[in-house]
Amino acid sequence: MTSREHPDLGRVLLSKEQIATRISELGAQITQDYAGRSVLLVGILKGAFVVMADLCRAIEIPVEIDFMAVSSYGSATRTSGVVRIVKDLDIDLAGRDVVLVEDIVDSGLTLRYLRKYLSARKPASLEVCAMLVREECPPETLESLKYVGFTLPNDWVVGYGLDTAQRWRNLPDVRSWVGNDTAS
Ligand code: IMP
Ligand code: MG
Repeated sequence: MTSREHPDLGRVLLSKEQIATRISELGAQITQDYAGRSVLLVGILKGAFVVMADLCRAIEIPVEIDFMAVSSYGSATRTSGVVRIVKDLDIDLAGRDVVLVEDIVDSGLTLRYLRKYLSARKPASLEVCAMLVREECPPETLESLKYVGFTLPNDWVVGYGLDTAQRWRNLPDVRSWVGNDTAS
């Protein structure tokens, strides 16, 4: 049995082919929207490291890359309601066209916090690209997202950067996770 046949892994919700196609489309859209300019992609670690690697290579204008690390969940699959900055930005946002890149937007709590935090650094513009968005995320959050990969139902998912207790980030597909909530 390989780790990809593990009983905690449910069905494939998004295949690597579907993801690759969508990433190319998002890259083309960003290339067009920022034509003649450059863009600073700010990835939110750890989850966004995979989408960042793919998305930046699908963009055909000059790109700068930075990362922030925040933590809003412990090892469990429920929100703690608290966002904590674990690693701050290296690049000054002032005057730059910034696209914040998120793995998944769920309650929108992390995003609300980050938007405020990044806006205070006076970028020329700030948009958000979310690879995944939960169907039940608040409508005002959904409307605030310029680039969205896929909308997903309420199940906890892993793969393509997303984890449960730091595991499964390296799966090439997005799969539902059907393990025990308290397992680690
Ligand atoms: P929010 O603050 O509730 O929007 O949660 C956003 C963060 O929660 C994401 O950046 C993920 O790190 C994490 N998250 C939310 N849902 C999932 C999931 O289904 N699998 C793995 N991580 C998730
Ligand atoms: Mg996470």
